Amino acid sequence: MAVHDVMERPVHARKSGRKKSEVTTSHPAPSAKPYQFKRLVVTSPKGGSGKTGTTRNLAVAAVLNGYRVATVDLDPQGSLTRWWQKRPEEATSIDHFGAHIRDIGAVLAEVKDYDLVLYDTPTSVEEYLEEMKALIVACDMALITTQETDDDLDSVLPWMDAVRKYQRNTAFLFNKIKPRTVMFTDARNRVVGNGYQACPVEVPDYTDIATAGNQGIGVLELRGAKGRDHISGVWGFVRASVGLSL
Ligand SMILES: Nc1ncnc2c1ncn2[C@@H]1O[C@H](COP(=O)(O)OP(=O)(O)OP(=O)(O)O)[C@@H](O)[C@H]1O
Ligand SMILES: [Mg+2]
Repeated sequence: MAVHDVMERPVHARKSGRKKSEVTTSHPAPSAKPYQFKRLVVTSPKGGSGKTGTTRNLAVAAVLNGYRVATVDLDPQGSLTRWWQKRPEEATSIDHFGAHIRDIGAVLAEVKDYDLVLYDTPTSVEEYLEEMKALIVACDMALITTQETDDDLDSVLPWMDAVRKYQRNTAFLFNKIKPRTVMFTDARNRVVGNGYQACPVEVPDYTDIATAGNQGIGVLELRGAKGRDHISGVWGFVRASVGLSL
């Protein structure tokens, strides 16, 4: 079954980000490098913690590094899809797919011919536990986004415990945080002190990150933007963790 056959809404049909003249088939020419085919899932039961922002910024970082990249929007809100639709013509191409999380089996079977496929997921993880499990098992890494309040940690720590049953390669990503505050330091200590892995680079709350998102680009595509170094650092950690070779 083709992914677009399982789409609920036409806006979620598969599209190529390439301009027409540059569209290539989804199968490599015999001489092309084989796809590395790594999958990353970005998940968190906490709304607004940065799942979509992280997915798109890492997708942009990967494509700027020369990897063949696809993003998959499994959130019925469709924020990642709307971001992708806003991408300027001249921006480096990212292929995009959208589907309902209940069709995860078909999506996993279909979206394959890439070096890296990034999955953005809904906040409502409890509603789709079986589907989330299927996705998490199939991925090479699960990244859990969180801010630094106790409310955030009380919600994401149990979810991390659930995710870790199905995926050995997990990490928290502190996002939209206020660095150099006691609250952030305490939160990071609580995470690492309980044996969880955290991305060693945190992403502060920077307006430029939201501004880039509004424009359909990643912060790495916004000249002089605050947060570029942070996203580069997170990308370096994720690239190495999923096992993408250079
Ligand atoms: N580090 C950051 N600094 C500033 N703004 C950010 C940052 N990360 C995300 N944002 C912005 O915060 C808002 C919420 O982030 P985002 O949509 O990525 O969260 P989410 O976890 O996907 O939310 P939802 O649960 O609704 O899907 C967005 O407007 C986004 O651009
Ligand atoms: Mg989102």
